[in-house]
Amino acid sequence: MDIRIIEQNVEDMQCGALVVGAAYKKVGQQTKELVLNGKATEVDSLLGGLFQATYGDGEFKAELGELLTLHPMGKLAAKRVVVVGLGTQEKMSTQSIRRASAIASRHLQQTGANQVALALHSEEWNMDLDNSIRAEVEGALLGLYTFKKYKQTNTNGNGQGITRINLLANNANEVMLDLAVDQGIALAEGTNFARDLVNEPPNVLTPSELANRASAMAEQFGLACQILDRPELQELGMGGLLGVAQGSVEPPKFIILHYRGAPQSENQGIALVGKGITFDTGGISLKPAEGMHQMKGDMAGAAAVIGAMYAIATLKPAINVTALVPTTENMPGGTAYRPGDILRIMNGKTIEIINTDAEGRLVLADALSYAVKNGLSPIIDVATLTGGIVVALGSVMSGMFCNDEELSNEIIAAGQLAGEKFWPMPLDDEYKEAIQSDIADIKQTGGRYASAATAAKILEQFVGDARWAHLDIAGTDFIDTKKPYQDYGATGVAVRTLAEFVLRRAE
Ligand code: BES
Ligand code: MN
Ligand code: ZN
Repeated sequence: MDIRIIEQNVEDMQCGALVVGAAYKKVGQQTKELVLNGKATEVDSLLGGLFQATYGDGEFKAELGELLTLHPMGKLAAKRVVVVGLGTQEKMSTQSIRRASAIASRHLQQTGANQVALALHSEEWNMDLDNSIRAEVEGALLGLYTFKKYKQTNTNGNGQGITRINLLANNANEVMLDLAVDQGIALAEGTNFARDLVNEPPNVLTPSELANRASAMAEQFGLACQILDRPELQELGMGGLLGVAQGSVEPPKFIILHYRGAPQSENQGIALVGKGITFDTGGISLKPAEGMHQMKGDMAGAAAVIGAMYAIATLKPAINVTALVPTTENMPGGTAYRPGDILRIMNGKTIEIINTDAEGRLVLADALSYAVKNGLSPIIDVATLTGGIVVALGSVMSGMFCNDEELSNEIIAAGQLAGEKFWPMPLDDEYKEAIQSDIADIKQTGGRYASAATAAKILEQFVGDARWAHLDIAGTDFIDTKKPYQDYGATGVAVRTLAEFVLRRAE
């Protein structure tokens, strides 16, 4: 895919489709009016006011994602014009641009366009121009993503599909705009890299294969990569990861990716920790069959941090970042760990196992201990950790547990620009009562109620004095219904927020 900014008037832009945006605003009690940006206004007048006319008729309402296709019949060099709705102007954000761009791109991919010109971004919208360009690029690349490698007949698209996207700008020489395009591409590619990892079936994406893919990516982008094997995990005392891995014939791995953007700095930098359970059967506390296949996505946290490293390594901010991924399967079997077992985590603390399906906190406990031991801070972990967070927030928002208000606000703000929502959840000390054990330092589970919070309280035992945030993405990592802006399957959630967080920290 070729994406670039070009300076070209709308009239002479030769392309399969020219995409412009239209919002609306309230004027008075009952009436609304169409709000067009500069490029859309030009196209509208070239077409003799056709946008305004279709809006006036009620044929096109400019609701977010609504599409209106017009054929210019020689009045423009473009074969067709697609007006995409951006919704009400007062609620417009980078996310409106991202969604509109995704919906228009997906539509054009399916209806035979090859070369597309986009002009959804604008100085006139209530956001910075570079942010709107970034969102526009992200939207197109995220919207066009599909995972069809295992289908012999790929029915998606028409011919070669979209091969080029031109972004129409008034001044193509601004470095700011090129940077925005580069950022949009890097963040979208990082996200799609993570989606590929999550969408891969669990017979292909084993812990070893996850390690291979992370190390190939590291090689490609010049990141240092270490893969720790069982003997090294034993030496480090990673009893949580080793305990969970016991029931699987696939060997566990501990993946470490180092990005050193500030090599002269004393500061070890940020730790991004991702839960990497490549398949979660529940183990001896076996899950019911229904829906179990979705547990191939139990490494979405790992995918998120690896995808974020992809974007970070591409954009090269001046800051140090380390990704830590404990990865294993959670399988039942004669050698599997059991309820009643006591495991010792790397930092020395012991955990009494109650339910082998609560495996995520065990592997994360080792990874968090490793981060603390290596002086990394802040620590952000990402995990498909609990069914409880799905009950609480569904697929709309991810849960965030954080021991530092500033860090929490930074993550929420980074998420807002990235189009990802994180809702603050409590780390109140009373939740600790549920995880007291009579025979070990910690009890592994706190029962049915507030299970996302009790799980977070367990993780908290392993972060020492570091500033730390835990993102529970169990409800947001995967969608099983196709959306107009997104194919079903992995969403790559948290990649863009993590990368944006790191970029801002580096400034
Ligand atoms: N991977 C699951 C959590 C999950 C649930 C992810 C639904 C995605 C969708 C996790 O390992 C798990 O099984 N958690 C249990 C813990 C319980 C046994 C204490 C849960 O939350 O039900
Ligand atoms: Mn589980
Ligand atoms: Zn799990």
